[in-house]
Amino acid sequence: MADACILGIESSCDETAAAVVRGGEQILSNVVLSQIATHQPYGGVVPELASREHLRAIVPVVRRALEDSGHTWESINAIAVTQGPGLAGALLVGISYAKALAFALNKPLITVNHLEGHIHAVLLEERQKGNFQVDFPVLSLVVSGGHTHLFLAAAHENHWTYETIGRTRDDAAGEAYDKVAKLLGLGYPGGPVIDGLAPHGDPRAARFGSAQIKHDNRGVSKDRQTPFDFSFSGIKTAVLRYVQLEEMKNSIEARQKILAGIPQPAVADILPLCDKKTLDLVASFQRAVVNDLVTKTLEAARERDVRTLFVTGGVAANSELRKTFDLEAGKEGLPVYFPSRKLSTDNAAMIAAAAYPKFVVRDFASPEFSAEASLALR
Ligand code: KG4
Ligand code: ZN
Repeated sequence: MADACILGIESSCDETAAAVVRGGEQILSNVVLSQIATHQPYGGVVPELASREHLRAIVPVVRRALEDSGHTWESINAIAVTQGPGLAGALLVGISYAKALAFALNKPLITVNHLEGHIHAVLLEERQKGNFQVDFPVLSLVVSGGHTHLFLAAAHENHWTYETIGRTRDDAAGEAYDKVAKLLGLGYPGGPVIDGLAPHGDPRAARFGSAQIKHDNRGVSKDRQTPFDFSFSGIKTAVLRYVQLEEMKNSIEARQKILAGIPQPAVADILPLCDKKTLDLVASFQRAVVNDLVTKTLEAARERDVRTLFVTGGVAANSELRKTFDLEAGKEGLPVYFPSRKLSTDNAAMIAAAAYPKFVVRDFASPEFSAEASLALR
């Protein structure tokens, strides 16, 4: 059983991914085909284009993952696929292919919640390093382009259950990165670019305080307040106002024009196109978002007497977020784990790993299931 190899398939957003993972803890192959180049001109993911690109990529990506793993169709023990949350059309591509494979090969099919996948990315890598000790309760911050959730996890014999104790009221943190980058003419996706530019600016230059980043609990009775919810739409508006007040429009347009001529520009291409004001703004934006994520997560951890922190999802790749979490959680003696940068963003190894406990208890999907764009994690 511990040698069981699961082929995972992920297509919930703009990455077509497949991977083979042994026993929920050893990655045998991990193929991720990003659609960044397709969506870049639009400054965000275009759902119709995402579905079309998944259709084009799914067969070669899965074949490649199988080849890289040294497995054959016959020697795989099960197939796992992301059921949701995500873009319905994109999810359906992965699901239809996974169903067809399972049927044709007569193998069990396992559905996985994408958010649980992100949490398992952390577990998978810790186990690969030989760390099997996780003290409960575990608080997981899942922070990505589509999600900003705080899940309190409890362990049962073969699976974990999750209580949502915080979530975003509006934009996800990664979405705020992407929108601010678009606003400043820095390209798509915004997270890696802002991450690379922020150390060159002064994070105290633009003051984005709690007023821009707080959700409103006013008028809500005490027992219905949600102190660990997030809100990132206010800071995006504050950045826009700053751009207008500081008359940055012309420099943004000039930068956009130059970057349009560079396919997939790197931070090194973008940095010389940014004046001090832009770099300061980017650094201030990032500082505000990072401080909010870390402060609320640690407050929740204190209140719920948490023993371990997981920080995962695309934004967990952020250098300042990692550094600040390490520092602040360290002060409280709270262990904090992140996936490697490669496993922070969407991938299928996390889906295959999350499927393993279900494989052990034979929790297989019925053939009728479909994509669930807003699938909750419980
Ligand atoms: O987990 P993910 O690949 O997809 C979703 O499930 O949404 O996350 C993608 C998001 C994007 O918004 C991207 O801008 C953000 O993660 N991201 C980052 C970094 N790398 C990716 N945000 C901040 N810093 C980064 N280094
Ligand atoms: Zn994700």
